[in-house]
Amino acid sequence: MLTSVASIIVTIVVLASIIGCGFILWNQSRIKLPKGKVETTGHAWDGLEEYNNPLPKWWMYLFWITVIFALAYVFLYPALGNNKGMLDWSSTGQWQKEINKADEQYGPLFAKYAQTPVQDLAQDPQAIEVGKRLYLTYCYQCHGSDARGAKGFPNLTDGDWLYGGQPETILQTITQGRNGMMPPHAHLGEESIKDLANYVRSLSGLANDSLRAAKGKELFASSGCAGCHGPDGKGNQAIGAPNLTDNVWLYGSSEKTIAETITNGRQNMMPAFGDRLNEGKLKLLSAYVYSLSQKPAAK
Ligand code: HEC
Ligand code: HEC
Repeated sequence: MLTSVASIIVTIVVLASIIGCGFILWNQSRIKLPKGKVETTGHAWDGLEEYNNPLPKWWMYLFWITVIFALAYVFLYPALGNNKGMLDWSSTGQWQKEINKADEQYGPLFAKYAQTPVQDLAQDPQAIEVGKRLYLTYCYQCHGSDARGAKGFPNLTDGDWLYGGQPETILQTITQGRNGMMPPHAHLGEESIKDLANYVRSLSGLANDSLRAAKGKELFASSGCAGCHGPDGKGNQAIGAPNLTDNVWLYGSSEKTIAETITNGRQNMMPAFGDRLNEGKLKLLSAYVYSLSQKPAAK
């Protein structure tokens, strides 16, 4: 919405320009061709001169048509400041109309899906197909079009879960969102953090400095790591603390990356979709995600 002063200015400028065009056309069409002799504009390029003829009639009519079209347009559509136009058209109105039409058309279908448990939807090829389309609209930007994720964005196909892979848990993740928080531990100092990183690598059977790993093991218990990741490092899905023993990495397995995670901590957010999508869509998405991890594991 414009302020009323701005609205008046816009209205005046728009109407004045259209009427101005009309005036020039009218003024030009009054020029009569002098009989016999045609004047030149006085411009000359290497002896070539320019006639000062009025525009041909058909050309003038085209200009008149544009003026009339413009006048009709600005009165029918919202073009004059805050004036809504005689058709009462608006882009939000048109959008709402399209949304209403889609709701009318697909509403009953989604209502049916909303009544069906996620587990059953995961068995229904048609539901999976719709879920996949929804996934490619709302989720692929972060989790990838093949759902295998990227650094910081979990792979949804590997059967390894931060929060849990039960249909209801997945539905809860998508509906309410998640907020993974690993606190920074820079205060432990560089050496201890290296020890911890070596211990964490050892948990997944990766190459490590066994002396450091032994020290790291003690630190893991005494520095609070175990409180979240569990005494054996197997993770805690209630708070999204990853299993550190399975060689599946959200951020990376190199000593450097692990040390970076421990030093600076990590903040990660899965947005909530519950206020954006209806229950049918949420369930279809859950069914699709659930179905991905039921196939033979994709590495
Ligand atoms: C803006 C990026 C973003 C979008 C969009 C997004 N996600 Fe996520 N998602 C994440 C992040 C980041 C996490 C990990 C959160 C954490 O580490 O705590 C996550 C976690 C998840 C998890 C939990 C995985 C686990 O291991 O427990 C599921 C399931 C999931 N997303 C599904 C979806 C679905 C389905 C959609 C589309 C409706 C979606 N996500 C859209 C970023 C996104
Ligand atoms: C308050 C709970 C909490 C504590 C304490 C904690 N972590 Fe974490 N840690 C998390 C969470 C949650 C994540 C996942 C962050 C995310 O979703 O982005 C995580 C992620 C990690 C990762 C990344 C794993 C990957 O797959 O890339 C490593 C490594 C790690 N923590 C090691 C440690 C170590 C070592 C300590 C002790 C110094 C520790 N954590 C202490 C909660 C915790």
